[in-house]
Amino acid sequence: MSPSSHSTILVTGGAGYIGSHAVLALQAKGYNVVILDNLVYGHQDIVEKNLKAELIVGDTSDRALLNEIFKTREIAAVMHFAAYAYVGESVTNPAKYYHNNVVGTLTLLEAMQEAGINKFVFSSTCATYGIPETVPIPETHPQNPINPYGASKLMVERILQDFDIAYNLKSVIFRYFNAAGADPQGRTGEDHNPETHLIPLILLTALGKRDAIKIFGTDYPTRDGTCIRDYIHVADLAQAHVLGLEYLLAGGGSDVFNLGNGNGFTVREMIATAKAITEKDFTVQETDRRLGDPAMLVGSSEKARQILNWQPQYADLNDIISHAWQWHQQRHDKLGEQANRPNSLAS
Ligand code: UFG
Repeated sequence: MSPSSHSTILVTGGAGYIGSHAVLALQAKGYNVVILDNLVYGHQDIVEKNLKAELIVGDTSDRALLNEIFKTREIAAVMHFAAYAYVGESVTNPAKYYHNNVVGTLTLLEAMQEAGINKFVFSSTCATYGIPETVPIPETHPQNPINPYGASKLMVERILQDFDIAYNLKSVIFRYFNAAGADPQGRTGEDHNPETHLIPLILLTALGKRDAIKIFGTDYPTRDGTCIRDYIHVADLAQAHVLGLEYLLAGGGSDVFNLGNGNGFTVREMIATAKAITEKDFTVQETDRRLGDPAMLVGSSEKARQILNWQPQYADLNDIISHAWQWHQQRHDKLGEQANRPNSLAS
């Protein structure tokens, strides 16, 4: 156990999909976790039953609340997951995305600066790259986001560069590819409302909660005509966040890392694997392309492996889909019909 492993870490968005897995990974290493989540999309029930961390319900743009948190607790570093993450919605309602993802983050950074906290782990995205020029995408690839969601994350990346130079704020930025899977022990998982992501939609169809899974486009220049994505297990993402935090706590300088598997799977391959794992047959409909989908997004994560010594444990697609399947079955058994569900979304 490292000397700093009893430190308290503030995790914003800790009641959301990726944040809740990071909370578990931090707790497993002995860190004390305080969650700040406005519960617009996060899940209070998961925090209360399975995370056992302090939950402060509030917003990252609430400066008075942030000041109070930093004054009354000894926070060593902040992991920032809280964000809106629906790409399509970001196009129709960019104000919501710039306000929450940029203004909220800026408010958090200013409060940290005033409180003398200078370590920050930030949840960014491969959506900051836009249409890839080379695959697998390295961290040095040009960043030209094609939607406000990606732009909002890129703006924060830029703010972090400037805050390091001016205020000595040290940050680790992680650009995720497609977060997928669920806690192998079933304590948390993916539960968005509305759901737009491929794996949960496939599994909800396998559960009979949806009539069919649609394939968005079958004429892409890929091996079977459908889009290729790099699916990375959420528990491996969480592990990378702990390593990034420990790199900063050990005095590391600001840096940026891709997090992906380096392997791409087509939509058809995902559906076939899910059918084999669930042992269910279900209806697949081929439809038109979804706007703004690049044919292939696959990342190179060599840098995270080398500098952070990140070693993904669940690179096998079967593990990713099996863990997600286990989660969805138990979540829907518990929740029953969707009607009484609170809102939810990933950060
Ligand atoms: N897809 C379908 N049918 C569906 C849903 C998705 O065919 O019902 C396809 C999409 O077209 C895409 C692939 O499955 O090719 C994966 O789609 P997701 O919506 O699951 O994920 P995205 O790749 O669109 O989005 C992910 C993250 C975003 C991030 C984006 C970066 O969820 O937060 O990568 O490109 F911005």
